[in-house]
Amino acid sequence: MRAVGLLTLYPCGRGPAEGRGEGGFLGQMLYEWGSKGRLCFDSLTPYPPPVNYDDLAPIYDQQYDSYRDDLHFYAGLAERAGGRVLEIGAGTGRVTAFLTRRGAAVLGVEPSGEMIVGAQARAAREGLTLELVQATAQTFASDERFGLIIAPFNALMHLYTPAEQLAALQNIRAHLAPGGQFVFDLYVPHFGAMNTLRHEGETFHVPDGSRTDLFLLQRHDAPRQVITTEYFADTTAPDGALRRAHHTLTQRYYTRFEMEWLLRCAGFEAPRVTGSFQGGPLVETSEVMVFQARGA
Ligand SMILES: C[S@@+](CC[C@H](N)C(=O)[O-])C[C@H]1O[C@@H](n2cnc3c(N)ncnc32)[C@H](O)[C@@H]1O
Repeated sequence: MRAVGLLTLYPCGRGPAEGRGEGGFLGQMLYEWGSKGRLCFDSLTPYPPPVNYDDLAPIYDQQYDSYRDDLHFYAGLAERAGGRVLEIGAGTGRVTAFLTRRGAAVLGVEPSGEMIVGAQARAAREGLTLELVQATAQTFASDERFGLIIAPFNALMHLYTPAEQLAALQNIRAHLAPGGQFVFDLYVPHFGAMNTLRHEGETFHVPDGSRTDLFLLQRHDAPRQVITTEYFADTTAPDGALRRAHHTLTQRYYTRFEMEWLLRCAGFEAPRVTGSFQGGPLVETSEVMVFQARGA
């Protein structure tokens, strides 16, 4: 299954100045200023604004609930680790619920209020209690230290700048118990046809007889290592009436060694890197990169 995910809002039209590394002293000043006041400097906006999954929450489960490749891997880690697991970017609780059903105690961190609403709806549906706090990987704070911290299914692809990436990884490192590990997966960027409206077989049927066809249009900004995916969700009612919803998702992709350096800079040892959840090597055809890192 294609491992892309989700939606970006542009609260200032084309995006607020998030600073973020370019523009020298002036750029930094504007970053400091912009990041406090959420101002727009279109000519100085080299990075996408932080992602907000609120608008995508209603279709997230439809799109990704059938993705199960990672579930047993994370459940096995949780079982071996014992103790409470910290999950970064828990979303609508796809992994949280699976781990909870298998007896793990999980604390989920999720910035989107609507994704948390989705997780609580899942909990009610499945008769589970899920604990989620609204925070980002950068801002989450607790006195608790965790033997296992996970960030499944590309959650780190919403950290766009080196400053955001380091802040998140350092904060995760700070919440790791001695000897604990941080485990996450990222998709390996294999790009399909860019700038072309595609239908990749994603059609969802609902009991009232309507169907949603998901079309996508992707753009690759290579210098920024950013893929923007625009989703066109076409819902056809039983009477043939068509309604289109539009969502935009911006993801920052990583190379393997870039991530290794980031981890080292944030206080982790050299990670174990595999190209599958079963532990195979990372090779050209791998679809995911799985990182397992302990504190240095
Ligand atoms: C592709 S979804 C994955 C959700 C869930 N882990 C799963 O496997 O279904 C990425 C999630 O990361 C969250 N996210 C975005 N920015 C984040 C940040 N800075 N810190 C933590 N989570 C973030 C999003 O709100 C979203 O729920």
